[in-house]
Amino acid sequence: MALLEIRDLRVYYYTLLGAVRAVDGVTMDVERGEWVGVVGESGSGKSTLALAIMRLVPPPGRIAGGSIVFDGVDLTRLSEGEMRRIRGRRIGMVFQDPMASLDPVRRIGDQIGDVFLEHGVASSREEARRLAGEALEMAGLPRDWVDRYPHQLSGGQRQRALIAGAVALKPELLIADEPTTALDVIVQAKIMDLIEELKRELGMTVILITHDISLAAERSTRIAVMYAGKLVEYGPVDAVVEDPLHPYTRGLLESAPDLWGEKRLRGIPGYPPDLRRPPRGCRFHPRCPVALEKCREEEPPLVRVGDRLVACHRALMRR
Ligand SMILES: Nc1ncnc2c1ncn2[C@@H]1O[C@H](COP(=O)(O)OP(=O)(O)OP(=O)(O)O)[C@@H](O)[C@H]1O
Ligand code: SF4
Ligand SMILES: [Mg+2]
Repeated sequence: MALLEIRDLRVYYYTLLGAVRAVDGVTMDVERGEWVGVVGESGSGKSTLALAIMRLVPPPGRIAGGSIVFDGVDLTRLSEGEMRRIRGRRIGMVFQDPMASLDPVRRIGDQIGDVFLEHGVASSREEARRLAGEALEMAGLPRDWVDRYPHQLSGGQRQRALIAGAVALKPELLIADEPTTALDVIVQAKIMDLIEELKRELGMTVILITHDISLAAERSTRIAVMYAGKLVEYGPVDAVVEDPLHPYTRGLLESAPDLWGEKRLRGIPGYPPDLRRPPRGCRFHPRCPVALEKCREEEPPLVRVGDRLVACHRALMRR
């Protein structure tokens, strides 16, 4: 049994202008010890997928269907009380917006300390602060920075503090949503090193969300490509990078200078669709350079091709 088994997950935001189908029928497994990179353009549903796993989708969004089985338990069926015991303890998350996830007027140590108090690991503020110091040290920051405020830290240090909070209770699964987007490449690499080191030390499974397929390719075992709320390709990193089966994956690689640098660099023309009214058939067909007639009408199912999953009529013809 995989650590995480997501089946036909649908997460919609019910706005006045209609339901935004942010995650629309995603099925994927994450094995224990894996590092899965989830990639896709802005608005493809990556953060919504992560928030659904944490059961933290904000209103007007909610899980509209499907299941998220974590270590044999369907998280979508748990009460909020039961979910609270898993969140932070068995699944840690680094949220996309680091400033929003740190309270500017509270000391770092008190904020990280909360997680120990919430889960009854510490019985006093004092003890929570001491444990927060240990967590900071684990994330490569000095122990006595528990007394600092968020504005006294650089972007990279803040990210370390957030990671310290996310792994403080040694979770089995760490979800990191764009943990390095605002950082320069050197700091970015150091944060990735930190996550890799913590993964090894704590025996964690990692889901790294990023719009940057080169970054995902560096350390992932598998890459999951999302487009317009759908999983369009999922497979071992080498296979996906060297021989992408989905035209969208190919487009992402062609716009990534580090990976296909020798090729002519070009972006994917056009824009992702409005998820209140996604196109019929394959959602990528208006932008796809190799679309077939049937792509306008028939939605391609996600099927196994070798050790990969892909949702594309043309890729299926290669089977
Ligand atoms: N609170 C909300 N209310 C309505 N729609 C939302 C809300 N949050 C997200 N959405 C929509 O859901 C879709 C998926 O958004 P999401 O943030 O999950 O994408 P993402 O892949 O994480 O993008 P990014 O790379 O920009 O972080 C988008 O169309 C977005 O506009
Ligand atoms: S199903 Fe058709 S439109 Fe969609 S990616 Fe494949 S070839 Fe392109
Ligand atoms: Mg996001």
